[in-house]
Amino acid sequence: MKIASIVGARPQFIKCAPLSRELRTEHEEILIHTGQHYDHEMSDIFFEELNIPKPDYNLGIGSGNQGEQTGKMLIEIEKVFLKEKPEMVLVYGDTNSTLAGGLAASKLHIKLAHVEAGLRSFDRRMPEEINRILSDQVSDLLLCPTQTAIDNLGKEGITEGVHLVGDVMMDALEYNWKVAREKSRILEELELEKGKYVVITVHRPGNTDSKDSMSNIIEALGQSGKITVFPVHPRTMKYMREYGIWDNIPSNVKLIQPVGYLDMLRLMGDAEKILTDSGGIQKEAYMLEVPCITLRMNTEWVETLGDGWNVLVGADSKKIVKALNEFKPRDRKKDIFGNGFACEKIREIINN
Ligand code: UD1
Ligand code: UDP
Repeated sequence: MKIASIVGARPQFIKCAPLSRELRTEHEEILIHTGQHYDHEMSDIFFEELNIPKPDYNLGIGSGNQGEQTGKMLIEIEKVFLKEKPEMVLVYGDTNSTLAGGLAASKLHIKLAHVEAGLRSFDRRMPEEINRILSDQVSDLLLCPTQTAIDNLGKEGITEGVHLVGDVMMDALEYNWKVAREKSRILEELELEKGKYVVITVHRPGNTDSKDSMSNIIEALGQSGKITVFPVHPRTMKYMREYGIWDNIPSNVKLIQPVGYLDMLRLMGDAEKILTDSGGIQKEAYMLEVPCITLRMNTEWVETLGDGWNVLVGADSKKIVKALNEFKPRDRKKDIFGNGFACEKIREIINN
């Protein structure tokens, strides 16, 4: 079958690496990169490190307001679909690239498969929540990572084409964890000791677009005194500079460029704790058995809260410091994200 896969943002490159490899054993894949992320460390580094095939198309859409970015993607993706005539389109997660790919496919009556279907944060102020709801509505195959995702779809009346496959990020992690331990020298380069530092990422508009939230987070890191590594997303760097925070960073906090997946895995795996507002990193923290402090008041990955490996603190500096000093998981970790065979299951479902 001729399958067109749409990617555009950092987490989608990581998710497509194992699935592309699996699908290409039996199918023809056309890889379309919307160009939503374009800096070397937000895009090319993942293609190089993870041996992802070079995209057949890079639409070069770049940054923009929500409607502008999504609209430009829709126009260009449709042109590729009309030319290539894929029999199925595959979209990942919840970004604007996901929604644009999904809309383009459904309007042309091409079968649509959504990887990571059914997730909900129940917060419609997040652009991702709108992308999730709409993408699921037009999907034919809803490939769910967890039972919660299936239940969420059921409540919206979506029951056909729904499959529990596990999480493709588990496949990616299983494949790359050993490689990361062998190849990544990030701890040595940054002079860090295993278990004696924390790592933080921030990129959600709810945090980055508020001077108060960003100031609270940085203040809390300073107060904790813990050695902190902060690979800074370009969106976050832009705002931190604008707010004057960039040049007033506490001495225990080390700002670095975004890193590749292998360095990120090693940084996370050897950390004492992880602070983040990322969806993917909450899951990876759980998979790597590192306690996660989530800088949001909700999460679509509710299972990680269940046995106490993840705690929601928002951008409240007191809660962040308390969690950094005191938070401990309650229970043993369960295999809530599958066993690393999600990609194989997806290939079998597509074959059928
Ligand atoms: C996007 C996704 C988000 C996902 C995240 C992963 C949407 C609505 N958001 O958020 O769901 O969690 O990617 O990282 O799709 N920029 C650069 N260089 C780049 C990319 C971005 O400088 O290579 C800067 C630009 O100033 C841009 C800003 O970052 O305006 C935001 O980029 P954008 O892709 O719109 O959203 P993200 O915040 O990255
Ligand atoms: N990641 C990375 N380098 C970084 C920050 C994150 O490789 O500097 C990886 C991370 O390990 C995870 C994915 O990027 O696999 C998550 O992407 P992000 O947080 O940008 O998006 P989200 O998951 O929130 O959509």
